[in-house]
Amino acid sequence: MEKKDNITVNNTFKSESSFNKIQGPIFIGRTWQEYMKMFNLDLKELKGLKILDCAAGASSFRGHTAKYGVDVTAVDLIYNEKADDLCVKCKEHLKLLVESLKKVQDKFVWKFFSDPDDLEFAREQACKEFVSDFNSYKGEHYIPADIQNLPFEDKSFDLVLCSHLLFIYDHRLSYEFHLNAVLEMLRVCKGELRLYPLVKNMGVKSEFVASIIADIPDVKMELVEVDYEFRKGGNEMLRIVKI
Ligand SMILES: C[S@@+](CC[C@H](N)C(=O)[O-])C[C@H]1O[C@@H](n2cnc3c(N)ncnc32)[C@H](O)[C@@H]1O
Repeated sequence: MEKKDNITVNNTFKSESSFNKIQGPIFIGRTWQEYMKMFNLDLKELKGLKILDCAAGASSFRGHTAKYGVDVTAVDLIYNEKADDLCVKCKEHLKLLVESLKKVQDKFVWKFFSDPDDLEFAREQACKEFVSDFNSYKGEHYIPADIQNLPFEDKSFDLVLCSHLLFIYDHRLSYEFHLNAVLEMLRVCKGELRLYPLVKNMGVKSEFVASIIADIPDVKMELVEVDYEFRKGGNEMLRIVKI
């Protein structure tokens, strides 16, 4: 295993090639519809569950599902910032993402979104829904925290989700970070943890997936095919069930 590093996540994404103008973490958010597909979720089945979305960014998953009575807590490293600042950051990062995507459009699967402009429009809507919900529930349902040190009691959540933080940045975030994050999410979870995606850029599965499967005891792990693919080959999630 790699030596433990002390990732200052503020520079985690600094040198990510497509986003090299960005200082600090990439702060964007997927739509709630993407979450449903990435994690094989059904709105009806979520009611009554306590759900944690880790590294939730500017996703509309919490805000939208809350309207249907679903109990979601969202955690992100930079939720201590003001809503207006997060909104500006999200818009800037989304613009850079779309500019980058237009240059490498053929490397992605345009099934959920028809093209980069369609993606931009949908993610802008997600950001608006996020900002409105964040303004109402900051500190209550939006908690600033590092994924490696979550401010919750053991077994607080039935379902924990983590989208687009682990595995895709395995050239920036060490294996130690991945292991700590997964163990910490499992600590606060009493049911199951779902991780998506498992591939990094160019559709290659992260080598950390096999290591995580090998290194975590007393759980049931399953690779599950999902009806969502944006990065080529990225149509699988890792489901980790506590036993
Ligand atoms: C690419 S965004 C993904 C957002 C959302 N999960 C989605 O799929 O749309 C990654 C998020 O991880 C957050 N993040 C980065 N490092 C973190 C850490 N150590 N703990 C908690 N959140 C972190 C960033 O602030 C950013 O919002």
